[in-house]
Amino acid sequence: MDIQAYRLKRQLTQEELAEALGVTNVTISKWENGQAQPSEKHMTKLKSISIHEEMKVVPFRPIQYLGSKLKLLTSIEVLVEQVAKEGRFCDLFAGSGVVSSYMANKHDVTACDIQGYSAILTSSLLHRSTLDHQGMAMFLKEVNDTFMLTDKSIFSLIEYEELLLDKASNGESDLLVNFSTCASLYTTKVNPIQIENEDTKLKSLISDVISLKDIESFQTLYLYGGVYFSYRQALLIDLIRQSADELKNVDDRSIVISSLLSACSEIVNTVGKQFAQPMKLTNTKGEIKKLQLARTIQNKSYDVPEKVKKAFINFLSAQQHIPKPDNHEVICTDVFNFLKNYDKEVGCFYADPPYTTDHYSRFYHVLETIALYDSPSLSFMNKKGIRVIMNGLYRTDRHQSEFCVPSSAINAFDKLFAGCSKFNAPLIVSYSPFDVDNNERSRLLSEERIEQIARKYYSKVSFVHNDSHKHRKLHSNKNNVDSIKHSEMFVVCEME
Ligand SMILES: C[S@@+](CC[C@H](N)C(=O)[O-])C[C@H]1O[C@@H](n2cnc3c(N)ncnc32)[C@H](O)[C@@H]1O
Repeated sequence: MDIQAYRLKRQLTQEELAEALGVTNVTISKWENGQAQPSEKHMTKLKSISIHEEMKVVPFRPIQYLGSKLKLLTSIEVLVEQVAKEGRFCDLFAGSGVVSSYMANKHDVTACDIQGYSAILTSSLLHRSTLDHQGMAMFLKEVNDTFMLTDKSIFSLIEYEELLLDKASNGESDLLVNFSTCASLYTTKVNPIQIENEDTKLKSLISDVISLKDIESFQTLYLYGGVYFSYRQALLIDLIRQSADELKNVDDRSIVISSLLSACSEIVNTVGKQFAQPMKLTNTKGEIKKLQLARTIQNKSYDVPEKVKKAFINFLSAQQHIPKPDNHEVICTDVFNFLKNYDKEVGCFYADPPYTTDHYSRFYHVLETIALYDSPSLSFMNKKGIRVIMNGLYRTDRHQSEFCVPSSAINAFDKLFAGCSKFNAPLIVSYSPFDVDNNERSRLLSEERIEQIARKYYSKVSFVHNDSHKHRKLHSNKNNVDSIKHSEMFVVCEME
């Protein structure tokens, strides 16, 4: 029996199957590689694991995304059904793509977002690929074969990091703490004066790697290796990303890159699984933060191909209801540019813009680079008079949204309502007076201000509250699940 095919058909990861059978991941891996055979007892158990039909239609969270509307999908659907006219459903700030994906069941969808990672994720939720489980397994096997051919100096650096992680899990964390501030290959190459590395072995290993001729082409390794991901994970991310570009079918390319983005969002070594700041292992007094250390060891142990496979299964399930060919489209551009140039009939707009000063590009810049794979340069700042590359390793060209800048936000909302109103279609805008996902950052526009602007362009404006929606407070000390009155609402704008 082909255990791996059997497992994938049941949409299970190695970890999940191991748990169901009461064995370790290593055992499952050995069965799948033919290094061992399941006993009769395990075979009987294995055969009793059925295919869960209902998994095929359950929406999933492609990436950890601030402001994701995954939990509001049915409320959005109900509202759209009440007001939509003949024409396309336009998801103007598609983000992780979950709204577009959900609405694609009943509508022709147009999704728009300025970020490249959003366009790729949403494409994989709206267009079917031709790649199946077996095709993906072969793809990943080839990646693994290429990994084995990696330059020796990169392997030595990978092994050294793993040695430090091992030592740290046995209580010897000094070298790993030093490593956590010195691991960036990009910083060492571009601005070495900001690195104070006391570990001579690490210094020499990094120096060997950054002098490799083609090191900059391994973009994740070069920019984020050892920092947001372990060097091993970063190299595997690069190999998968590069191999994806060789796939001929554009939808196959999208699903592989989307699965990779999804995996990166799960394994990234940060607090909260966004990419704003890498994990810091010491406090201001220089004392080791035990929890962060434990998380780092855990995060850096995740197996990239395994996580990619798991995400691929989810994307495939989400694609099951999409007809081929489909009538959906994804447009990666600024919303104002989209509204100015779009010429198809729109039945309903859904707008979920940002409302705080936090630019999405600050939280998801690493995913943007993996999506675009365009060798960006990274931003500098002034620290005590010295020019240093910023800790977050942000792209210099990261998008600054007009919706997030206090001096331009009101005008941005005005332009949004004005632009949509020209299509003579209803507009549903998501709004929440609290930003519980992100430390309750204050909103740039009040509910009253939004209403004022909406009334300039629409004759009928109503507020629909969604009190049942519950948020988990990400950074709350209470770490509980709070129900907040009027935590989420929709502004429904129509022309009478
Ligand atoms: C609140 S999130 C949308 C979340 C999405 N509804 C979901 O469920 O995943 C806001 C999105 O607006 C996008 N954005 C911000 N400014 C934009 C602009 N000027 N044009 C297009 N997209 C923009 C950001 O990239 C981000 O993905």
